[in-house]
Amino acid sequence: MKLKQTYPIPESVIREKIESLSALPVLDSFAEDVLQLLDEPTTTTSNLLRVVETNPVLSAKILKTANSPVYGFPQSIATVEFAFSILGFDIIKETIVLSLLSSRFEDKTREDVRLQQIWEHALATAIMAKKIARDVNYPVIGEAFSAGLFHDIGYAVIFRLFQNEFEQLYQVSLQQKSARDFSNLEESFFGKITHQIVGAYLLEKWNLPASVCEAVKFHHEPVRAERNLFLASIVHCADIVVRRDGSSASPFDENIIVVDSAVDFLKQHCQDFEVRYFHQTSKPKVIKSVLLKKQKMVV
Ligand SMILES: [Fe+2]
Repeated sequence: MKLKQTYPIPESVIREKIESLSALPVLDSFAEDVLQLLDEPTTTTSNLLRVVETNPVLSAKILKTANSPVYGFPQSIATVEFAFSILGFDIIKETIVLSLLSSRFEDKTREDVRLQQIWEHALATAIMAKKIARDVNYPVIGEAFSAGLFHDIGYAVIFRLFQNEFEQLYQVSLQQKSARDFSNLEESFFGKITHQIVGAYLLEKWNLPASVCEAVKFHHEPVRAERNLFLASIVHCADIVVRRDGSSASPFDENIIVVDSAVDFLKQHCQDFEVRYFHQTSKPKVIKSVLLKKQKMVV
């Protein structure tokens, strides 16, 4: 495949386009109300259900997310009420956050399965990061979830802003099977501005905690994290584990390599960390098994 323009794209053009994103992530008042409700400790499932059911777009998104392969549910979930009862409050909260987040990047005129895969992988990584954070006693579990959720958000940004270039990048990556590490090709298109940098840049604009921005920036090379190596290592390992255990099928970063020193770092906080998460025979199919247990309780 011949490339139609000169690459990498000049950094000034990329920066300018990302600047235009500052208007994109503003949440509407409904989204703000829902997020506030999620933050209040007194909020119950029925409070939340009443609000969500008034918004058909969010209801549809919750059903779509609840039926995604990330949760591996054997039967389809047809109503929001059923989704609430079967998934449980925590997972519903996660689903709502993801639904509100992904809607910021949607192109209303077309649906793209790869963008959907980016979000599914984001959610799987977030859930895994939360589980790892608990196991290694990371003090702020919510930060691990957020950093996992946002780790590849740079792809969504690039996808949204540079759809044609992204399409070429993807096609080239399919042809060059030996170069399936998306980051290498990404560099040839975008220079130094990789999805890690773009993601961190957007999160800084959203005023997310500096540790979360850093973990996103260095999720492929956590040892470069100076502020919070702990969080960067958690996100890196969560990203790798969900790819290996088949929980998520993101088409990007397929060949991301586990950084041993990140695993060693987490072993200092949880002795059998490697066995729990990286041993072939003990893959943590955590998402599916938890949900199947919940389902048995409901049926
Ligand atoms: Fe990545």
